[in-house]
Amino acid sequence: MSDGTSAAGIEGARRTVGEHPYGILIVDDESAILESLELTLGGDYHVFTANSGEQGLEILEREEIALIIADQVMPGMAGVEFFEKAIERNPSAIRIMLTGYADIGSLVRAINDGRIYRYIAKPWEPEEVRLNVKRALEAHELATENTQLAAALREANDRLRAENLFLRREVERRYGFDQIIGSSPAMTRVFEVMEKVAETDVTVLITGETGTGKDLVARAVHYAGARKGQRFVAQNCAALPDTLLESELFGHKRGSFTGAHADKKGLFEIAHRGTIFLDEVGETQPGMQVRLLRVLQDGEIRPLGSSETRHVDVRIIAATNRDLPQDIADSRFREDLYYRLRVVEIHLPALRERPSDIPLLAHHFLDFCNQKMGRKIQGFTNAAMDRLTSHSWSGNVRELENEIERTVALAGDADSITVEMLSEHIRGAPETSFSLDWVVPGADLNASVDALKRQMIREALEKTGSKTRAAEKLGIPRQSLQKMMKRLKLND
Ligand SMILES: Nc1ncnc2c1ncn2[C@@H]1O[C@H](COP(=O)(O)OP(=O)(O)O)[C@@H](O)[C@H]1O
Ligand SMILES: [Mg+2]
Repeated sequence: MSDGTSAAGIEGARRTVGEHPYGILIVDDESAILESLELTLGGDYHVFTANSGEQGLEILEREEIALIIADQVMPGMAGVEFFEKAIERNPSAIRIMLTGYADIGSLVRAINDGRIYRYIAKPWEPEEVRLNVKRALEAHELATENTQLAAALREANDRLRAENLFLRREVERRYGFDQIIGSSPAMTRVFEVMEKVAETDVTVLITGETGTGKDLVARAVHYAGARKGQRFVAQNCAALPDTLLESELFGHKRGSFTGAHADKKGLFEIAHRGTIFLDEVGETQPGMQVRLLRVLQDGEIRPLGSSETRHVDVRIIAATNRDLPQDIADSRFREDLYYRLRVVEIHLPALRERPSDIPLLAHHFLDFCNQKMGRKIQGFTNAAMDRLTSHSWSGNVRELENEIERTVALAGDADSITVEMLSEHIRGAPETSFSLDWVVPGADLNASVDALKRQMIREALEKTGSKTRAAEKLGIPRQSLQKMMKRLKLND
């Protein structure tokens, strides 16, 4: 088919499908031929006849024509010439040439130019004409449909591409540095390090208690770097038993274990050229630690059940809320893997260690919840903000986020958030870090100091969950803390 199928032409031909017969135009100077063809086709189609090219063109202007049959040899305008003009008026109509004797030259040219679909030699059998016309219209119908489907597909593809681009920008925006709130000195240092490592490919270990934003930081580092156009895949290493985790990360060959019905690509391969985020890496078993070490050393992975290794180009970001130096001391974590992971460490301080960030975060989440729930809460009363900033937030930013969300949900059409709206455990009296009430009056100084030390160490351990950080918090070296605990008979 010629590709001159304009939308209007397609519509014209299609509207006649099913409900109405197709319109067919026959052009010949011999009236006997017109009559005979009209007889052959008139039963099935709506036939128009013209005894010259000029008259044929007039009919084309007025009528919806799906197929044209024209004689090549006519006085005045010849068939080929007529078709050239017909194309301008109705490019989608199928053109069939009638030819009495073999004027091969002009015929071949016309066919090759795509101007005519087929020719019928005189004399013809009526059945042959009917069949030719039917086939031509069917082919035309199919071609029209294909053109429309192709156009629809192209349009859908374009739309998907546009959507994809939009989503990618959305993701980049959502995981941008500016979505990480914080202006405390500690967070400012975090941002500085993030910015530096984002430009590089170095392996980063993000440490910090749960809810401090490790996920957020991992994504932001990826989306600020050169790999942002490639994938970021995250795997929580604590979520799966060892074999499944191995298959998830490294892939497997079919049949390598029960349930492995087909080959499967691992996340390291899926993340090729991108970034893999190994969350809770401290929870991995010794076997997995060896395999991770191998990827970090050689950039090579071996799918379960396969004898071949594959090279991958993947940036690794890992995170943990565990005290890995402690785990190393307890032989739970490989020291060599730790140093490979911790080329750069980004430590996210607990929220209670940077209370100056709390008002910023609280307003940030308030704005977000206002928008999400269609509320117009202006802010917090001073007393409510006092409680928020003095609370210890063992769940860190996540807990604060949940608290604000809960409060906004229950706030109705209140103007601002008051102490009464906060959760009971936050509303309660601010915690005191320790009290002297228990110091027995008259007891000796050393015993009292030891009791105080015990209390402070216990609290520091409880709050930080790790000896390393407890020591940091207490301002003493970790080894001194350990010695002191031994002497004070504090069990870990
Ligand atoms: N600095 C921050 N600014 C804004 N939102 C934060 C910040 N830190 C954490 N969040 C939010 O708190 C929640 C917990 O953060 P996440 O990154 O999952 O913590 P983690 O991985 O350390 O447990 C998420 O909803 C995250 O968007
Ligand atoms: Mg997390």
